[in-house]
Amino acid sequence: MILEPVALIHTGNDLIDTQHRELIELLNMLMLGIEAKDHPRIQKSLQGLTRYVVEHFTDEEALHQNSGMGGFSEHQMAHHKIIGDLDRFVQAYNRYPDSEVQNMQLLFTVVRDFMQQLEHHDVPLAVYVRTHPESVSTK
Ligand SMILES: [Fe+2]
Ligand SMILES: [Fe+2]
Repeated sequence: MILEPVALIHTGNDLIDTQHRELIELLNMLMLGIEAKDHPRIQKSLQGLTRYVVEHFTDEEALHQNSGMGGFSEHQMAHHKIIGDLDRFVQAYNRYPDSEVQNMQLLFTVVRDFMQQLEHHDVPLAVYVRTHPESVSTK
């Protein structure tokens, strides 16, 4: 399971588009780390993801708020769910680092929630921002 950078998601905002690509890279790195039982790689990708999702969500939420599109609090809730998934992943991994089944299940949950919120929130936001170019700003 290698996630392809989703060509569909073009916000027209370079920062957000770059962050999506980098998050997908980190998810792929985590999956490869689990498959190879490469603990330094798993730890590095979990740390990177934990830090990077917060940065990305903050920027994207600013874009959403500035755009004037509805559904902001639902989008924010979907982001919080992913932060919670990652938090549970880190805790479970620290307890049972060698459980490949556990780690793959936790990864699946993160990927599922990430892709669902891309579809339900990021894509509509991307479409809105494309059709309202005057609102493309994260600051
Ligand atoms: Fe989002
Ligand atoms: Fe996003």
